[in-house]
Amino acid sequence: MASFKSSSSSLTAFKFHLGLFLLLAGCASAQLSTNFYGTSCPNVLSVIKSAVGSAVSNEARMGASLLRLHFHDCFVNGCDASVLLDGGEKTAPANTNSLRGFDVIDNIKTQLESSCPGVVSCADILSVAARDSVVALGGPSWQVRLGRRDSATAGSVSDVNNNVPSPALNVSGLISSFSNKGFHS
Ligand SMILES: *[C@@H]1O[C@H](CO)[C@@H](O)[C@H](O)[C@H]1NC(C)=O
Repeated sequence: MASFKSSSSSLTAFKFHLGLFLLLAGCASAQLSTNFYGTSCPNVLSVIKSAVGSAVSNEARMGASLLRLHFHDCFVNGCDASVLLDGGEKTAPANTNSLRGFDVIDNIKTQLESSCPGVVSCADILSVAARDSVVALGGPSWQVRLGRRDSATAGSVSDVNNNVPSPALNVSGLISSFSNKGFHS
């Protein structure tokens, strides 16, 4: 009986790990897509565009702030909204007392939670808000592929110090820094 029990619980453990593996493998192979929320939250792009449009028309600088919030997020463990979480990442010198736009992101998240609860990641909101900010300020547009997952943990101060590009870099230094993180023109 004891041995039956133990083999049954190791079978259960095996099934659990297999399930976890398949889940993770599925995530790893999942592709981002511009239409990721096409059926689950069809108004996602219009909600973000309109909120960013009014924030930028209230204060043009907010467009730059939302773009900066996005890339400061992406340079630390990828574009995973870790910059929104309380923890070391927010308190690093590059971020503390200078990151702005949290209220705009919160407002978008609140609207999306009421139309499609639990669907749209904050990482995707940050990515689209950055694009819409640039467009609202008269810059170029680009397609944002969606389906990013949010981190459950903030990065550390040293993650920020070692990754976010220094404001002292010249243009060629900045271009190669962004390019090393997978941002290409
Ligand atoms: C940019 O900075 C790097 C490193 O400090 C330097 O080697 C390079 O010559 C600079 N480039 C320009 C165009 O000033």
